[in-house]
Amino acid sequence: MKKRPTLSSICSIASLLVMTSAASAEDLEHGRRVFRLCVACHTADSDRNGFGPHLKGVVGRPAGSLPDYRYSEAMKTAGAGGLVWDEAALSEFLSSPKKKVPGTKMSFGGLWATSEITDLIAYLRANP
Ligand code: HEC
Repeated sequence: MKKRPTLSSICSIASLLVMTSAASAEDLEHGRRVFRLCVACHTADSDRNGFGPHLKGVVGRPAGSLPDYRYSEAMKTAGAGGLVWDEAALSEFLSSPKKKVPGTKMSFGGLWATSEITDLIAYLRANP
């Protein structure tokens, strides 16, 4: 006899959907590995600036807003114009920094794979 979907199977599908929207440990680990591309210039787990501004708590931070870092005029102007590093803005910036903020002094070619970007953002989010 063919089994009808039960309430519990519907519930487990629903919880799977919830789980995919939150980052798994595996995604975070992947994000941490992708972040190795950034560590020459950035830290995510301390508020010390390097060649680039620190990225601790960057998710939700207005662009160009750290008082103790010398940003390019381009980045300061972008922040003054309302650019905030939410997930959408970060993924655009990380896929092509110079396209999102023309004139930025961040010399990084950009990430190509969506999974690299989303997992990296999950990692940054885990470093508030
Ligand atoms: C070669 C050094 C370098 C590398 C590599 C690099 N960045 Fe940057 N990044 C910078 C610099 C310099 C700035 C400041 C840009 C400006 O003022 O125009 C910056 C700015 C940023 C900002 C804006 C921060 C703010 O406070 O507004 C974010 C977000 C960012 N980088 C993320 C990343 C991520 C994530 C990676 C790795 C995928 C990365 N960067 C790789 C040098 C680098």
